[in-house]
Amino acid sequence: MRIAVLNGPNLNLLGEREPHLYGNASLAEIESATRAHAATLGVECAWTQTNHEGELVEAIQGLRRSAEGALVNAAAFTHTSLAVRDALLAVQVPFVEVHLSNIFAREPERRRSLLADLALGVVAGFGPDSYRLGLEGLVRHLVVRRGC
Ligand code: DQA
Repeated sequence: MRIAVLNGPNLNLLGEREPHLYGNASLAEIESATRAHAATLGVECAWTQTNHEGELVEAIQGLRRSAEGALVNAAAFTHTSLAVRDALLAVQVPFVEVHLSNIFAREPERRRSLLADLALGVVAGFGPDSYRLGLEGLVRHLVVRRGC
């Protein structure tokens, strides 16, 4: 099974960026923990981070050919990007929305996600563990779906 993990803007700065909100782990550390966990589930994972909306849209469009499902942390684009929403609607690849912080307990403009109603589920607020928990939920969903 192949899944993709898509990360949006400023997540390349994790570890140095607002550690009181996002913790001390770098994105590379989260990537290796997620890959290691994926391997225990027998899942291969393709990892992307971009600061550019168009690149994120293209990465989502590419999911049709490359992945059975995705974890998506679109970062600030979660709250602003109809283009990211439209891409997810177009490809119809099952995805879990993940966030390190609990966006629902933050500023009003972060409490709204333009993606959440399209997602299988949302995992937010568990720091780097949000990726592991999202991965488990996604893989479980895909395994059950394969069995049908
Ligand atoms: C984030 C939450 C977003 O509101 C913010 O813009 C981010 C990170 C999170 O993982 O908690 O960049 O997606």
